[in-house]
Amino acid sequence: MTPILSEAKAFIEQCYKELNKSESDIDFRIQQIEKELQADGTYTHTTEELEHGAKMAWRNSNRCIGRLFWHSLHVFDQRHASTADEVFNSLERHLEFATNGGRIRPTITIFRPSQPNQPEIRLWNHQLVRYAGYEESGTYIGDPHSVEFTKKCLDLGWNGSKTNFDVLPMVVQIGDQKPHWKEIKKDLALEVPLRHPEFSWFEDLGLRWYGVPIISDMELKIGGISYKAAPFNGWYMETEIGARNLADEQRYNLLPKVASCMKLDTSRAATLWKDKALIELNIAVLHSFKEDRVNIVDHHTAAQQFRLFEENEKNADRSVTGDWTWLIPPVSPATTHVFHKDYDNTWNQTNYFYQEKPY
Ligand code: ARG
Repeated sequence: MTPILSEAKAFIEQCYKELNKSESDIDFRIQQIEKELQADGTYTHTTEELEHGAKMAWRNSNRCIGRLFWHSLHVFDQRHASTADEVFNSLERHLEFATNGGRIRPTITIFRPSQPNQPEIRLWNHQLVRYAGYEESGTYIGDPHSVEFTKKCLDLGWNGSKTNFDVLPMVVQIGDQKPHWKEIKKDLALEVPLRHPEFSWFEDLGLRWYGVPIISDMELKIGGISYKAAPFNGWYMETEIGARNLADEQRYNLLPKVASCMKLDTSRAATLWKDKALIELNIAVLHSFKEDRVNIVDHHTAAQQFRLFEENEKNADRSVTGDWTWLIPPVSPATTHVFHKDYDNTWNQTNYFYQEKPY
């Protein structure tokens, strides 16, 4: 049996059982797929398979603490899109639908899979909305994580304003063509200016973050079929922004600045100035998103939701796989149940995977 057939079989069996289809439906569909594979070396998912497959892939994402909501994923089937313009239109629709004025909807847009004799669609962005990064002799403007991609955008003719928060353009490549880029319209990229409930000086730092994390560089695999362009989003957990993006030394590295504004004693590690600054940064993120009515979850609530997910899965007779090193929040991990458990880090085949960069 070819690897694609065995993956297809395993997927159809599980998917169809979950959708309460009969054994004869399963047998019939597998025969159909076998024939399609023999003739074309690939097969085409039905809309139902695509939709449920994308949800299963989320449910199987070992590093995600937000999986309670796997079933609510909204799937846009955009397999018919073939030109860069069509892809940009689909991405704009994704942005608008997912953002929903702040009432964020978990959404995935799935473009056509890799197929023999067809140019491949690739998105060059890591996330659809992301800030540019510029490096000049060892100092950074913006997000250091974006430096390489930002250079590519500049090479393609995009112009950055060189602020700390320039929203990068969308970059789409079809086959071997030169990639196309398109600026994201202001009203499509919801952003939240950060302020603090008690520290009035905080807003003068001029910090902000975008509302919706839309991962656009991962490969979705369903039943042996590879969807290399399938951007998806949930909503943020505050630590992703407050304890990592803005705090990591290799990112915005803001702890020293926040600590100095708080007038903390930074002369010794033992004053725990980093920890104090970190908490206030996280409080500011939660406060600002809440006030602007943009969905976000704190890490304690997220862990409770994950506990519910674990219970649901148990009741459905499925085992939960997970990557402990990612599931624990970076702030106060031992205050959540996740810290005190073991997780089986086996990767189910229907999943979201890292893939090689197209550039
Ligand atoms: N950690 C990434 C970021 O800070 C986003 C990853 C996806 N996060 C999510 N809540 N769906 O941008």
